[in-house]
Amino acid sequence: MIVCLCQGVSDRDVRTAIDDGATCVGQLESRGIGGDCRGCEFALECMIDEAARAGRIQRCQACCADAALAYA
Ligand code: FES
Repeated sequence: MIVCLCQGVSDRDVRTAIDDGATCVGQLESRGIGGDCRGCEFALECMIDEAARAGRIQRCQACCADAALAYA
């Protein structure tokens, strides 16, 4: 399923980026996911949160602490 229409990125691509080390939306953006209209930002946050809750990653605390609270 396409998650980011602007960049044509699927949920599988996002999960791969997260498994490869992206722990916040900013880090996904640096990998070419999101960052344009931001319409996918909530979905990206949810996927990061899903990975964090599953213990696959530790959510970024440096640049996105406020975002983590906003989506909690
Ligand atoms: S849908 Fe992802 S940046 Fe627009």
